[in-house]
Amino acid sequence: VRSILPSMPPSSGAEFYDQPEVEAEYFAPWEPFESPVETLEAPAFWEAVGDVRGLRVLDLGCGDGSLGSDLLERGATSYDGVDASTAMVARAGQRHGPSAITEQRLEALDLPADHFDLVVSLRVLHYVKDVVPVLRHARDALVPGGRLIFTVEHPVITSNESREPGAKRGAWTVDNYFDTSHREVVFLGAPVVKHHRTIEQYLAAVHDAGFAFHALSECAPRPESFGHRQDEYQRRQRIPLFLMMVAQRPA
Ligand SMILES: C[S@@+](CC[C@H](N)C(=O)[O-])C[C@H]1O[C@@H](n2cnc3c(N)ncnc32)[C@H](O)[C@@H]1O
Repeated sequence: VRSILPSMPPSSGAEFYDQPEVEAEYFAPWEPFESPVETLEAPAFWEAVGDVRGLRVLDLGCGDGSLGSDLLERGATSYDGVDASTAMVARAGQRHGPSAITEQRLEALDLPADHFDLVVSLRVLHYVKDVVPVLRHARDALVPGGRLIFTVEHPVITSNESREPGAKRGAWTVDNYFDTSHREVVFLGAPVVKHHRTIEQYLAAVHDAGFAFHALSECAPRPESFGHRQDEYQRRQRIPLFLMMVAQRPA
């Protein structure tokens, strides 16, 4: 990770990924079995998603749209994505065509009603101050019975980001857990605003947006996801990094 740029004001998540240094850092390759997105989030996500054949999927904060390629390969009927970052929209548009990917902020969504079977959003909602309106839009975009699956940085992580840049974290401090204001943190080498919420508040938001809550996962490590890197498996046992929720628009 590059050095901190302390004089810069923190970006909102909607602007953050358009900084070329951040984009480069975000797409920098990981050592095998060290990316927690691959070892922790992905196994929990694909287990929760199950069979996607025939589903029309919307991805809120789609990034480069690589998830869409995996969904289509597994038989999803269609994949649409929205993202606030021009750079991400360009990358995703190259994969899926410009009509499938639109540049939108989650705070000002314009979506078709009663259209999608599944709405996903991976590691995006902690950049959004008010999640209930976003989740309401997601509910209205789903067909009755359609599902929502989202992940966020785990609240024990967003509570207190105390770490030296570049260091592999060896200790974590959960602090100010019930102070659910925003946090200005350094991530991918640059300052950004993240919004900390408790698990209880995420659950309440899902409920307030009109969803039936189905399941919650903390994306616990599974030894089989770490190949020969069982040392990484042991390290990932220490603290949760992601919170995932599964909910359904009532039929
Ligand atoms: C950690 S990346 C995850 C990307 C993608 N979901 C994935 O799993 O690869 C976060 C994404 O959220 C987008 N984002 C952040 N805040 C946003 C907002 N307010 N509205 C729309 N997109 C936002 C960023 O541009 C970025 O592409």
